[in-house]
Amino acid sequence: MTWNLIVYEQTESTQDLAREMALDGEPEGLAVMALQQTRGRGRAGRHWVSPACKNLALSLILRPGVAPAEAPLLGLLAAVAVAEMLEEHRIGSPQLKWPNDVLVSRCKIAGILPEGTIVDRSVAQVIIGLGLNVNCERTDFPPELMASISSMYLETGQGFDLESVARAFLRHMEMLYLRVKQEGCGFIVPLWQSRWAHQGHTLSRDGLTGLAEGIDRDGALLLRTPDGTLHRISSGEAHPLS
Ligand code: BTN
Repeated sequence: MTWNLIVYEQTESTQDLAREMALDGEPEGLAVMALQQTRGRGRAGRHWVSPACKNLALSLILRPGVAPAEAPLLGLLAAVAVAEMLEEHRIGSPQLKWPNDVLVSRCKIAGILPEGTIVDRSVAQVIIGLGLNVNCERTDFPPELMASISSMYLETGQGFDLESVARAFLRHMEMLYLRVKQEGCGFIVPLWQSRWAHQGHTLSRDGLTGLAEGIDRDGALLLRTPDGTLHRISSGEAHPLS
């Protein structure tokens, strides 16, 4: 599979654009990037803050032919591809936060939004949205986010060409995705867990607090509460206590 990367100056949301194109029959491999998004979306319906022309906003169309239960694994896969790409750019020790964040120096550098469409009990399409902080500074963000974000520029003191960064990510994503096509999804969770920031840490999710024991084969978080119960959490977010 080769990527067909289309770069827009401005759009409301690459995610919405890619989803519409996929529903119109666009084959997998289309990657839509925008220099500016006017209505970028994050997880859980949040607004995605991304200063114009500084950060990467990219959405990919995949048609993986996996079972619906496995669709979330493609979000984990994209997070691994981002971490590999950051290492290639000499940004050391990127770590992953369940479900789909990439952290550097404990700060969020990228978020991923995987959105699947199920038709006749199989996954017809998955749109993988990637928001990656590339050239932004802390002051590009609202005060409440400043302390918790990082960027490739903040980590290295260097500026990066957005399209080159997109193509580098796509190269890593392609290699990992080819593996999915060849051998299925079984390798994704161990690979993701090898970069997990919170294995064995205490995490809290909607009032439930427990030890992060692992990720199950469908990508759900396994939290052990103090009474010994193992909770399987398949959606939402879980944050470290400290
Ligand atoms: C998150 O909340 O962490 C996920 C953020 C995903 C943002 C990206 S930017 C490209 C694509 N277009 C959108 O509107 N959202 C995703």
